[in-house]
Amino acid sequence: KSNAMWGGRFAAGPDAIMEAINASIGFDKRLYAQDIRGSRAHAAMLAAQGILTDKDAEAIREGLLTVLSEIEGGTFEFSTALEDIHMNVEARLKALIGEPAGRLHTARSRNDQVATDFRLWVRDQCDAAIDGLTALMSALVTQAEAGADWVMPGFTHLQTAQPVTWGHHMMAYVEMFARDRSRFTDARVRMNESPLGAAALAGTSFPIDRHATATALGFDRPSANSLDAVADRDFALEFLSAAAICAMHLSRFAEELVIWSSAQFRFVALSDRFSTGSSIMPQKKNPDAAELIRAKIGRILGAQVALFTIMKGLPLTYSKDMQEDKEQTFDAADSLMLALAAMEGMVKDMEANRPSLEAAASSGFSTATDLADWLVRELDLPFRDAHHVTGTLVAMAEKKGCDLPDLSLAEMQSVHEGIRDDVFGVLGVHNSVASRMSYGGTAPDQVRAQVARWKEMLG
Ligand code: ARG
Repeated sequence: KSNAMWGGRFAAGPDAIMEAINASIGFDKRLYAQDIRGSRAHAAMLAAQGILTDKDAEAIREGLLTVLSEIEGGTFEFSTALEDIHMNVEARLKALIGEPAGRLHTARSRNDQVATDFRLWVRDQCDAAIDGLTALMSALVTQAEAGADWVMPGFTHLQTAQPVTWGHHMMAYVEMFARDRSRFTDARVRMNESPLGAAALAGTSFPIDRHATATALGFDRPSANSLDAVADRDFALEFLSAAAICAMHLSRFAEELVIWSSAQFRFVALSDRFSTGSSIMPQKKNPDAAELIRAKIGRILGAQVALFTIMKGLPLTYSKDMQEDKEQTFDAADSLMLALAAMEGMVKDMEANRPSLEAAASSGFSTATDLADWLVRELDLPFRDAHHVTGTLVAMAEKKGCDLPDLSLAEMQSVHEGIRDDVFGVLGVHNSVASRMSYGGTAPDQVRAQVARWKEMLG
């Protein structure tokens, strides 16, 4: 038999395969709360405008609340034949309250309905991402405050470059996650317009009040063009783009934790709570959470590419292709929230291995730049000459199998006769980091200033 919602012109029902490819209820049931919220706002507006009687509107309101509690109580029976969440809710409403249920869809289409529901859902995910990022940033600031003067190697090309502080490294991620957070904030502002009342695509002949429903749903305003309102999913793409950039940052940090927790580095100990063992090698403690966080970018970026590809060739306005927006976005959002929570947990629990960080910072000729700077400052050498002298000393130390501070003054003077005893002062890693006082530099005082700034901003 034909569909009760739209089957007027149909003599036969859909093939089973048609039903399977067409139905979205398996995943869009996640929009139930947004769908009911949107319908309540719509019904209240219809009544206020005299399009619905107050009696019908009240029956609809009561009925929708019953549907909501049935879904939340797990007693609601979802039907694939009813395609999606919108028709499942409406059909149940009809069973509960009868005729007035059929009046709810006046001046509305599933096209503006789904655009509204999905916007509300993605808007909530922006808020969740902002909260998750804020919690992660706080955990990083706590680590940075504790280790504002712990020295560790700073790397370029994963080769020892210059000594930095643990706090400085943690605060680098705070800056990155802060930009991620602002991307979600910006996206939220742009997406916060109500498609409701655009109806199928052209607007409606009923005297609706789109400003009222926009306000009721927490939108800043109704969208100004009904075609645009039902046709675009750029808000989801913007969320996915912000999510992909954030996941890329999470992945880089996760990669560092994987390296740092290895026996070869021993920079950090991850907690038991965020590690797993091996079923064959009893000694193993694997950084699985970090590895999985590192992997999530694959799914999230995949979702973004999928939705771009779905959307890029669609003529205005709605096409059924757009039903495929939801699973991708749901999966990406779930992945991101889990990755953020896992990273926050790992950062809170992890313990930096100070001696090991300091030993690593003191090896690999990490203070060679400090030596070159000393030659410029004290002996007035041009930087390029100082670079060459220092390079020669590094080669000498490497040949001897020692580090720069282990060379004797006589050995140094054999390369440049002007070198004096006080050069050794700059070869120590603590002096090195303390000297990098330029704004945003790694000196502990600079790090503490950034920690204080962020503590205030994070509240
Ligand atoms: N389930 C559909 C979706 O997710 C709802 C909109 C259907 N609209 C329509 N005209 N078929 O996009």
